[in-house]
Amino acid sequence: MSATRILPVGVRNAGDLATICAGEGAKSDPLWERATKAKRQWARDRLTELGTFAWVAYNGADPIGMIQCHPDRDPMGVGVAVIDCIWVPKKSRWGRGIGSKLLAEVETTMQRQHRWFEGKPADGIAAMAFHGEAEGQQSAESFYLHHGFVRVGGDPDLMFKPFQPDIVWTPTPRAVVTPTSLPDDQARVTVLLGPLSCPFQYRILSQTGTYVGEKLGMTVTEVDAVSDPEGYLAHGGLSGILVGGRQLRYDLLQHEKLDKELSGL
Ligand SMILES: CC(C)(COP(=O)(O)OP(=O)(O)OC[C@H]1O[C@@H](n2cnc3c(N)ncnc32)[C@H](O)[C@@H]1OP(=O)(O)O)[C@@H](O)C(=O)NCCC(=O)NCCS
Repeated sequence: MSATRILPVGVRNAGDLATICAGEGAKSDPLWERATKAKRQWARDRLTELGTFAWVAYNGADPIGMIQCHPDRDPMGVGVAVIDCIWVPKKSRWGRGIGSKLLAEVETTMQRQHRWFEGKPADGIAAMAFHGEAEGQQSAESFYLHHGFVRVGGDPDLMFKPFQPDIVWTPTPRAVVTPTSLPDDQARVTVLLGPLSCPFQYRILSQTGTYVGEKLGMTVTEVDAVSDPEGYLAHGGLSGILVGGRQLRYDLLQHEKLDKELSGL
């Protein structure tokens, strides 16, 4: 077996960062296809904005794991690299050190002088550790705890590891942003599908839109940032679902809450 190589994501392998998230059988699924296309667009936009922001682990030419991050600076000037996602999809690869190698690559990079932090090293590394694991797979939370991260900021998904013991990071609270509602949205379900960092999220949004349309007997219109950039930007350039022009709070991942929300509309 050839050794695992960790390579930065650039324009040439941005597609690998997108397709690695899709499960078995995804190639023949049009929704996955659209979701990975949206992620490819997101990766290209992010490369332009941030430079290297993600790494893919390869076995030969096969992408077998990924990690992606962005910079954050708190009001006191503490600069932190925030990992949005880490993912080793295939069961046959779990527990072989791939996740640890990907994390080490980000830690090493951010401990060197870096353009994200005015040419200085980051003060620490943070991670969004939401539960996206498959059955029997290690959770992101358990993985980060194992690697010395601790919870911070009252956000159950957010973890932090300072690079120096006295560093305190005050994370910026996640902003609540609402897409713009247009007159056409008043009598329909509008699904706004942006260039998303997560193809799972794209699929859930689309599937939730279909579900809501059927449940409420309303027409569903999808506005995809890749195929209809103007329509997407006219809605404020944000992803989400509008029902009769009002933003939906829950999706199919929280089925019961979604049904409750729909019955209250
Ligand atoms: C977490 C994850 C990245 C770990 O990847 P991996 O390549 O299997 O990790 P490693 O092989 O480097 O293992 C890391 C450590 O955890 C241990 N470990 C691995 N699987 C484990 C499991 N199921 N339970 C407990 N410990 C486990 C390993 O033994 C290793 O310990 P060591 O450093 O003492 O040797 C991977 O399992 C994953 O993708 N999980 C889902 C993450 C997720 O939900 N992502 C989306 C939201 S961010």
